[in-house]
Amino acid sequence: MSDELLLRITTDPDVIADPYPLLRELRETAPVHRAGFADFWILTRFEDCRAALRDPRLGSPEPGDDAPSLLASSRPRRSGGPRALLFLNPPDHTRIRSLVSRAFTPRRVERLRPAVEAMTSELLDAVADAGECDLIEALAFPLPANVISELVGVPVADRDWLRPLMSDLAATLELTREEEVADRAEAASAKVNAYLNDLIDRRRAAPADDLLSGLIAASDGEDRLTQAEVVATVSLIYAAGFETTTNLIGNIVHTLIRHPDQLARLRADRSLVPSAVDEVLRFEPPVQLDGRYARAGTVIGGQTIPRGHSVLTLLGAANRDPAVVDDPDRFDVGRSEVPMLSFGSGIHYCLGAALARLEGQVVLQALLDRFDTWTPLDDAPPWKRRLTLRGLARLPVAFS
Ligand code: HEM
Repeated sequence: MSDELLLRITTDPDVIADPYPLLRELRETAPVHRAGFADFWILTRFEDCRAALRDPRLGSPEPGDDAPSLLASSRPRRSGGPRALLFLNPPDHTRIRSLVSRAFTPRRVERLRPAVEAMTSELLDAVADAGECDLIEALAFPLPANVISELVGVPVADRDWLRPLMSDLAATLELTREEEVADRAEAASAKVNAYLNDLIDRRRAAPADDLLSGLIAASDGEDRLTQAEVVATVSLIYAAGFETTTNLIGNIVHTLIRHPDQLARLRADRSLVPSAVDEVLRFEPPVQLDGRYARAGTVIGGQTIPRGHSVLTLLGAANRDPAVVDDPDRFDVGRSEVPMLSFGSGIHYCLGAALARLEGQVVLQALLDRFDTWTPLDDAPPWKRRLTLRGLARLPVAFS
């Protein structure tokens, strides 16, 4: 029964449009569910998901572990090169994360604010001229990639070339068995690596005030990131920070359009912009699924998870668990300090959370400032058919 529910997440158009009633059913009837099709456990309660993400016995498979390879990225990873942060276990993860954090600081993120505002404003000029747009194509897709390029220090002239490659690379984080997706990701990865190696050489010769130069220089005593580790880190930052933020921007506009009372509240009180962005993150999380491999047996929600099994945490279900959020299906831009797992939890907690929030807030503020009415041109805009990343394929809106 629960397996049938799971299958409908990817196949039933009504569930794709609104998965939350089904996720609630799963959470209420089978909160720690062993899928019949493989050694997979599906978690939907907040505390169980949080415990799994923080459990040191659950992590990424190491070479030699007999783990199912559902991720498109598992192939390029096998073909050599260091694994990126997200796929490392301590102590390797601890070492790389500490070095990367020395360069990817809150100060560096905050310094990007004027640039994010300028890029947003430029993209919205074109929207204002046209009066209507597909918000994904006009704003949500180009902005996050250009912001990461600005952060990393990719020259403006190279950004348009790099953007589609980075988009293909993001597919490495999707659960898929599709060979074609993995092939595209692998081809993109080869081109991106060659480009980044060249850019790193240039920054070594002439450092600039950007993340790439910061990563090259980051040191802990004698320890530094190798060139291949810098390349893997920058590729991961694009893969993890691009489509996720595209989805956040689309989800912000879509959710507010569908809740006009909350949009009116925001117009009357702009101090609610930060909590509104967080409420969209909770209510319609851009990353719906996180996974771990049991490197040792453990117990979650009273069930024994044997060594070698995998655990999938359904973040959209966890964020609406009534055990931690009052009236969880109500969208309320005034909530504060709401627990959510949208950026994960524990040692892999999203490194770009502050940047994602900054982008969401800048975009929302700019759209409120510039346009008095946001009118949807499609009552049921299509969602991308993805399991991990939840976002709209198109979002046609008229602005005035
Ligand atoms: C709304 C946008 C975003 C969402 C929802 C999001 C979500 C997440 C989640 C759930 C994780 C944890 C994965 C796990 O536990 O396995 C994660 C990790 C990560 N995120 Fe984000 N992310 C977003 C934006 C960004 C941005 C903008 C960047 C960088 C510019 C970024 C960089 C990373 C990195 C590097 C990690 C891996 C950290 C580690 O393994 O230690 N993310 N993100």
